[in-house]
Amino acid sequence: MVAVNFSKVHKHYGNLQALRGVDFEIPKGSFFGLLGPNGAGKSTLINIMAGLVRATQGNVRILGYDVRHQWRQARQALGVVPQELAIDPFFTVREILRLQSGYFGHGRENQAWLDELLETLSLSDKANTNSQQLSGGMKRRVLIAQALVHKPPVVVLDEPTAGVDVELRQALWSFTKQLHKNGHTIILTTHYLEEAESLCDQIAILNHGQLIALDTKNALLARYPYRLLRLSLSNPDVILPSALQDKVQSFVKSELVLRLHRDNDQIGAILDSLRAANIQFVDLHTEEPGLEEVFVSLTSGARRT
Ligand SMILES: Nc1ncnc2c1ncn2[C@@H]1O[C@H](COP(=O)(O)OP(=O)(O)OP(=O)(O)O)[C@@H](O)[C@H]1O
Ligand SMILES: [Mg+2]
Repeated sequence: MVAVNFSKVHKHYGNLQALRGVDFEIPKGSFFGLLGPNGAGKSTLINIMAGLVRATQGNVRILGYDVRHQWRQARQALGVVPQELAIDPFFTVREILRLQSGYFGHGRENQAWLDELLETLSLSDKANTNSQQLSGGMKRRVLIAQALVHKPPVVVLDEPTAGVDVELRQALWSFTKQLHKNGHTIILTTHYLEEAESLCDQIAILNHGQLIALDTKNALLARYPYRLLRLSLSNPDVILPSALQDKVQSFVKSELVLRLHRDNDQIGAILDSLRAANIQFVDLHTEEPGLEEVFVSLTSGARRT
């Protein structure tokens, strides 16, 4: 079953091509990471899903409903936590949730769920506070509650942890995991790649408005053919043998990190060439690459304008 279907989606803002034929599906029940550098087009794609931005070409379906021609059903199926902290300034937190709930056709019968949201997001004591008097982190929580008033099966979080403290971040993740466990499809954008790595089972990477990777997290990690060898040198003032120079990932003070090809580089041979150059080290260990290495290797390179 498919939660979201993007079909040849293009978006032009004047001369700027924000999306260039994005075409993929998000499986129902997945915890899906939508990643990409600043300006890649993630929020544009999300805003098209939410009906806030209109695609120049192509279409998007949420649970089979076309966002343009069946926008009511599509909107009912979707809850979006926007990247911007845009919040109505004239209402209290509870009023905001009630209004949103009414917008989706709910009345008093939904009150228990709204109270539960306030409780779970630690907003109960702010329920009657005017939204203008909230801190950034609290506004973020209100936006999350607002996105969930109608219990949407598909939940999109556009950088929910930007500018959020450690405690709230952890609370957000356990809340999001719970939603996923309860059967919601979760779509997440974040620049914290360790978070995406630990949470998401499927990952898409956008770059310059195009999909450049779409895979399970494990397959994506396996695609990167390197692991890292981290060495603490006894003396940082050394000249590396030329055979090792192109393997340097980083060399800061006495901390040397080499990138070893899984098949072609043998640790024994590397250590032999260090010894031959009379380079001593006090510690070494190897590391498997993370999503960050994969992401950088896929998205670095010449920028297109
Ligand atoms: N309303 C708009 N008018 C004109 N250009 C826009 C508009 N919204 C976005 N863009 C441009 O479209 C491109 C994609 O922007 P978008 O916000 O979708 O990127 P993003 O992947 O969400 O980036 P970030 O990680 O910074 O949030 C950027 O070049 C941006 O400047
Ligand atoms: Mg964005």
